[in-house]
Amino acid sequence: PVIRREDYLPPAWLVPEVALDFRLGLDATHVTAKLSVNRNAAGNGASTLRLNGDQIAPLAVRVDGKDVNDWRLDGSDLLVELSGDTHVVEVETALNPATNSQLMGLYASGGMLCTQCEAEGFRRITFFPDRPDVLSTYTVRMSGPKAQFPILLANGNCTASGDGEDGAHWAEWHDPWPKPSYLFALVAGDLVANAAHFTTMGGRKVDLNIWVRPGDEDRTQHAMDSLINSMKWDEEAFGREYDLDLFNIVAVSDYNMGAMENKGLNIFNTRYVLADPETATDGDYDAVEGVIGHEYFHNWSGNRVTCRDWFQLSLKEGFTVLRDQLFSADMGSEAVKRIEDVRVLRIAQFPEDSGPLAHPIRPDSYQEISNFYTATVYNKGAEVIRMMRTMAGVERFRQGTDLYFDRHDGEAATCEDFVKAIEDGAGLDLAQFRLWYSQAGTPQVAAQLVHNGTQAVLTLTQSVPATPGQPEKQAMPIPLRVALFDRETGTHSGEQLIVFDKASDTFTFDGFAHPPVLSINRGFSAPVAIEFERDSADLVFLAAHDDDPFARYEAMQGLVVQHLVAAVSGKLDDAARDEGRAAIGAAYGAVIADPALDDLMRGELMILPAETYLAEQLAVSDPGAIHAEREALKAWLGRELAGPLKVLHDRAVAVPYSREAAARGARKIKTQALVLIASGDPAEGARRAFAQYNAADNMTDRQGALMVLASLDAPERETALADFHDRYEGNALVIDKWFSLQAGALNPKVLEHIAALAKHPDFTMTNPNRVRALYMAAAVNPRAFHDESGEGYRMIGDLIRRLDPINAQTAARFVPSLGRWRRIEPVRAAMMRAELERIAAMPELSRDVREQVSKSLG
Ligand code: ARG
Ligand code: ZN
Repeated sequence: PVIRREDYLPPAWLVPEVALDFRLGLDATHVTAKLSVNRNAAGNGASTLRLNGDQIAPLAVRVDGKDVNDWRLDGSDLLVELSGDTHVVEVETALNPATNSQLMGLYASGGMLCTQCEAEGFRRITFFPDRPDVLSTYTVRMSGPKAQFPILLANGNCTASGDGEDGAHWAEWHDPWPKPSYLFALVAGDLVANAAHFTTMGGRKVDLNIWVRPGDEDRTQHAMDSLINSMKWDEEAFGREYDLDLFNIVAVSDYNMGAMENKGLNIFNTRYVLADPETATDGDYDAVEGVIGHEYFHNWSGNRVTCRDWFQLSLKEGFTVLRDQLFSADMGSEAVKRIEDVRVLRIAQFPEDSGPLAHPIRPDSYQEISNFYTATVYNKGAEVIRMMRTMAGVERFRQGTDLYFDRHDGEAATCEDFVKAIEDGAGLDLAQFRLWYSQAGTPQVAAQLVHNGTQAVLTLTQSVPATPGQPEKQAMPIPLRVALFDRETGTHSGEQLIVFDKASDTFTFDGFAHPPVLSINRGFSAPVAIEFERDSADLVFLAAHDDDPFARYEAMQGLVVQHLVAAVSGKLDDAARDEGRAAIGAAYGAVIADPALDDLMRGELMILPAETYLAEQLAVSDPGAIHAEREALKAWLGRELAGPLKVLHDRAVAVPYSREAAARGARKIKTQALVLIASGDPAEGARRAFAQYNAADNMTDRQGALMVLASLDAPERETALADFHDRYEGNALVIDKWFSLQAGALNPKVLEHIAALAKHPDFTMTNPNRVRALYMAAAVNPRAFHDESGEGYRMIGDLIRRLDPINAQTAARFVPSLGRWRRIEPVRAAMMRAELERIAAMPELSRDVREQVSKSLG
């Protein structure tokens, strides 16, 4: 069953008020839902009320207080005939949270009860018009055994609570803000809070709580600091103020995704809440800050203004990702954050755009909406809004977002509403720009620069590749920040923003006596691929001189990408290979030595392009060849720069732990230096890694050292892995690291190691974090996944088939890696395809996996 955007119809019935009554039990929860329903004047006038359900049965149905028997089931939906325009419809259901392994709806996690309703989980709790354009005011009553569930939470404010008989207690919650069912949340369990306050710009005093399992409270301060920073930042950057007296966050260890923005009661994967220096890396700290910000920002971009239907998902997700990116940039280094965000886009989203699952940021159809929580909807969605901001400028963009929030507060809006508000508020003409919402595929922009007299003429040509269902594309408006550098002075006379909106166009720049060096798509102003043939001298020049930090990074990447792509395409003879390596080695040497660079930025410049990004540059690629060439370059760099790398490592080792930028930078380059040293000289690498491991007083250094050791065939490997497991036994998030470090290792025996880890007593298929720790790490490890035996593909295929009945959403996330087969050399491609066919042949398959597999087979 395909759902299409163009088929949207307003709901026939509205539900202004809901009262829910939960009698809670881990393996038996009873739910009574009382819905006040009104016929929607804008609807089709149907007398049938359709209430969605999924895996539930109605125990009793009452209309206006009287039992009725003339209800029907249509598939899993409950249909009730209503005569008038206003009724109260009551439905009772019973659930078993303990057996809910899909982790959608109401489920049990480590002895507590919690919910996940986005996108369509509420229908697993009770029958309801489970669509985001039905907004209701919720009153929730819950009761249960006090010893088992001492804390009872729901959206909004607690209005009453008390003790019942036989050790039971109860609480009543009321959320004054009308919301769609996907924002409903309930939590019951034995939890402790880190509590704080925030006073909003309007003077509202808000109680803040971060709820965790007893024993975890010492690891919540960074999350609390991040929350307070988010609240302050949204007031300053977007004029958004919090709107309840209470804001609760609950951390749960069994969770399908990152976190969820339920009104006043965010529910988080523990990995985005818990952090302390001993157990969390600097990257983990950044992820906590980013996700805390993201969910908080949803209070306006998502909750106060929600989505009309799920095709509009990017309305809230793309915008909220942009908001969290800008927040993190303001909290730390803007330059480094931009580089990280582009790297994620290129690794995760570019392959989507160029594969069988390509879809526009506003999809036209879906079978299972959970499959559309993608890098395209989230990250490309953020890039599309960022382009509007770049074209408008920060202040006018803010006028646009102010207008958007004003105009649509309390509504379920569309992407079109957003674009219109930016158009009106910021004074932009976005008529052609709307193509970014409807066309999939990463635009390819070919650039040519010709120097003539005193003029430099830039010729640009764009093409948007065909994607499934979209064979023909129109030219998109592409905002490009450009600068032309004078080779002699190393400077430019001002950056310009050009908006390139035709299939082909030329741009003329005056006043250049000598051919200038072009810096294009600075700051990654547009999510496109630039094709610009240039000699490595120009790239070396930009890597050293560009005053845009992203462009500097881009020049370093370009230098390596050009070289490795030529190498794997068999275009390099020995002399050309030496020449290419020499240029890269010189640029790396300069980066290592440059005293003007801070270490966080130095670390970015030292990161080699990912193998998936290299593969993107080729129509069809041989992952084995890409891996071998990239590893060979690492080893060469390690030998060539052995001296400076050891100096760098020693200098970084001497910096004491702190959370300050300089110390974080030192930790970042410490492990990067170690990786290259170990590539060039495994014995020296093992020695230094083991020393770094043993001296570590923080997880960043410890994990970095263990990562290096895990890839080596050295006796220190086993010693350190065993120590790590002993040291952190019982700490689930750290044991996840232990799994993923081994599954992600570039070790010749990695497939054997993964097979053994799958049988380890700590492994379980019912915890998504653990499944991802082992198998996502394996799926993105070229050594494991693309092993020429095909065993890596078999392993992921088996996983999908075994996981699907347990947790379909998580299983479906593994399909895209196999779906890349068309872009892989024929021998491997056949094996990848065969795995997809084995999955497709399963008699029972979830809608989630079915959709991804059938699209991947094409
Ligand atoms: N809205 C959440 C976020 O991005 C994601 C929830 C996705 N859940 C799901 N089951 N697909 O913050
Ligand atoms: Zn989100």
